[in-house]
Amino acid sequence: MLTRRDWLRLTLASAATALVSRRALGIAPAPRKLTVYKSPTCGCCANWVQHVKSAGFAVDVHDVGDDMLTQIKNTAGVPEALRSCHVALSGPYAFEGHVPADVVKKVLDEKPKIVGLAVPGMPAGSPGMEMGGRVDHYDVIAFARDGKKWTYASR
Ligand code: CU
Ligand code: CU
Repeated sequence: MLTRRDWLRLTLASAATALVSRRALGIAPAPRKLTVYKSPTCGCCANWVQHVKSAGFAVDVHDVGDDMLTQIKNTAGVPEALRSCHVALSGPYAFEGHVPADVVKKVLDEKPKIVGLAVPGMPAGSPGMEMGGRVDHYDVIAFARDGKKWTYASR
């Protein structure tokens, strides 16, 4: 039979376990989430999804038609001039095209007052656009609600 003392010991032990596991959860960073919208036939988009997955993102991928993709980009506020292929959404941010995962992480961590980032023109050598040894220089452009655009990172 369980005495009151046994019961107390069990209760305390499970409380301690709960505390430890909660602490463990606090230490392990939650995976950053991205929802990607892309054309079903786009190979470089699929490569970019692989790139962010291997960088530790939890990625939800949706294949959509061109009209739907345009609507999503319009709603997300991606400037037309900066558009290329897929768009990835996370919280209030939109990431258009082949934005490197570390730059996406930086935005999600630092939470700047921007609408999102874009890498226009699908440059060779950007993540998902590997073309043998060819690596083009490219800029990651930030865009804001008021229409301002500026270089956020250069590669
Ligand atoms: Cu692409
Ligand atoms: Cu793409």
